[in-house]
Amino acid sequence: MARTYVITGAASGIGKATKELLESRDNKVIGVDLHDADVTVDLTTAEGRTALVDEVTRLSGGAVDAVLAIAGLAIPAPKTVSVNFFGMVATLEGLRPLLLGSGAPRAVGVSSMASLHPLDDELVAHMTAGDETAALARAEVLAKDPELRNLIYSSTKKAFAQWVRRSAPTPEWAGASIPLNAVAPGVIETPMTSGMLTTEQARTDLLQLVPMPLNGIAQPIVVARLLAWLTSEENTHLCGQVVFVDGGSDAVIRGDTTW
Ligand SMILES: NC(=O)c1ccc[n+]([C@@H]2O[C@H](COP(=O)([O-])OP(=O)(O)OC[C@H]3O[C@@H](n4cnc5c(N)ncnc54)[C@H](O)[C@@H]3O)[C@@H](O)[C@H]2O)c1
Repeated sequence: MARTYVITGAASGIGKATKELLESRDNKVIGVDLHDADVTVDLTTAEGRTALVDEVTRLSGGAVDAVLAIAGLAIPAPKTVSVNFFGMVATLEGLRPLLLGSGAPRAVGVSSMASLHPLDDELVAHMTAGDETAALARAEVLAKDPELRNLIYSSTKKAFAQWVRRSAPTPEWAGASIPLNAVAPGVIETPMTSGMLTTEQARTDLLQLVPMPLNGIAQPIVVARLLAWLTSEENTHLCGQVVFVDGGSDAVIRGDTTW
């Protein structure tokens, strides 16, 4: 049966591929993005997050079957914190009431294998505490230091993965029969990464940081297929999982330390 999906980041990369896949299966998708979307909002702002809920409520008639929080940034700047953590959480929490009207509600967000890379504990702690002002102040400090600025992205992806694990088993999510999970992609060829993949040498260097022994760098459809399954009616019991779709980087980097 056709379902109604909300996808943030629907104008590009993984979000666009997911929108196209779900639509090709005759579902209705409400796309959200800064441009080229059904709902045009900036998820870094309070106004944008409120408008997201208002507009999706209006367009859906008040009920949706799945929410996919995909919009993200990879720039070493405070804005990345606002989109990747606070924007994703606002999307999932803000649209959760609309899921309660579905017979098979599902929710998912996008973390990253970068969550396994070095990060900034203070920044992660501010995000976990839900303190956007303190998180942005810390990110401002990190962004000014060429040695530390790359910790911003990995920190957002770790904090988001932790938020999913902490939230998923609670009465609001599991208690309302909503599987909440995350995916953690390896290197995916999208506009976000295209600048890092321009030469064979650059690709080889990136794969040193992100080892992908299984089939190497992936296309966005690979992640889209997993997101589609996680938000399908078939997924009844995955709860708080961070599913690495990374060609093996998690297995290489973490080895026996997780299972
Ligand atoms: N590409 C990769 O290798 C990779 C790997 C791991 C995780 N991810 C994550 O996957 C997600 C999608 O990335 P992608 O590679 O498709 O990138 P992309 O740049 O192709 O698409 C991201 C989309 O998010 C939107 N967006 C950014 N800021 C926004 C804002 N303030 N408000 C609303 N929309 C906003 C952009 O306009 C864009 O359409 C991101 O969360 C990213 O961190 C990507």
